[in-house]
Amino acid sequence: MDYRMENQELLDKFQAYVDAENKVEAKDWMPDGYRKTLIRQIAQHAHSEVVGMLPEGNWITRAPSLRRKAILLAKVQDEAGHGLYLYSAVETMGVTRDQLIDELHTGKAKYSSIFNYPTISWADIGAIGWLVDGAAIVNQVSLQRTSYGPYSRAMIRICKEESFHQRQGYEIMIALAKGTPEQKRMAQDAFNRWWWPSLMMFGPSDANSEHSAQNIRWKIKRHGNDELRQKFVDMTVPQAEYLGLTIPDPDLRWNEERGHYDFGDINWDEFNQVIRGNGPCNKQRLEARKKAHEDGAWVRDAAVAYARKQQEKSRTGEAAA
Ligand code: 3HC
Repeated sequence: MDYRMENQELLDKFQAYVDAENKVEAKDWMPDGYRKTLIRQIAQHAHSEVVGMLPEGNWITRAPSLRRKAILLAKVQDEAGHGLYLYSAVETMGVTRDQLIDELHTGKAKYSSIFNYPTISWADIGAIGWLVDGAAIVNQVSLQRTSYGPYSRAMIRICKEESFHQRQGYEIMIALAKGTPEQKRMAQDAFNRWWWPSLMMFGPSDANSEHSAQNIRWKIKRHGNDELRQKFVDMTVPQAEYLGLTIPDPDLRWNEERGHYDFGDINWDEFNQVIRGNGPCNKQRLEARKKAHEDGAWVRDAAVAYARKQQEKSRTGEAAA
């Protein structure tokens, strides 16, 4: 049988399978390109969750009240859990956790650009919950319908917790924006610094996205980057107006004809610098991750030793029986 014919037949069958809204499972045949892009995307997503704990973790000891501290602790712990779901989802594609962590630490794998910005004041914690988790929700609600089963199921689980993340952030912004003039100034300053990087989270414009078109054909992505970005802007502008904050974009205006907000040009040079490792905090984020991994080696060693002992016990138990 002509291999190319077979491959084309397999590809056509696969395309018909996803077009019929079936979920692809780990044991199913899949094009190499499908597997490759999903390993890249899910691993990047998992890394983002874990690295994303760092900017917020920076304020746990400095939260303004016990209530705020408890909420922030819960949120950061949730992110760790999201990372574990997603690492488990990507491991179903035949990669190991060690491989993934090594690729993160050596800079071979990306994580979301947004986590390379500093958290300068408590208002940043509000802006992250409101804007970063808000953007993540728009992206992840769409990803709940991704064609790869384990990823879709992880997204459904994660989305349940994201709405709490966004709401607690927005509550912080309300408290500050409706507080003293100094608190409102803090909220505006954080908004000014997090607005544009949040728009960049959705990735380059689809016209410049090397993966979007194919990922949409394979139903990995259900919406393009620009469509999700626009949805986020349309959703967030009224929230900013309720806070009485000024959107840091002089070109932002409602376009009645389009039924959407028009907004200014994104600084893609900044985005490309950040994803190439030259953002404000890239170096410190990777250093922190590498140190945490080294400091945690004894836990991994103990877990492996315990598992080995248990296996030994059950083997000798079987032999004795
Ligand atoms: N940060 C870092 N890299 C990014 C990026 C971003 N915000 N957006 C795009 N890129 C990279 C892509 O990885 C790709 O790089 P590569 O080919 O060298 O790997 C390149 O830029 C081109 O981008 P594409 O749009 O062609 O890539 P994708 O089709 O993968 O789309 C994406 C990018 C929309 C981010 C998509 O990967 C995606 O939806 N990923 C899953 C969601 C995710 O990773 N979210 C990160 C935030 S997680 C989070 O916010 C946690 C929350 O709890 C706070």
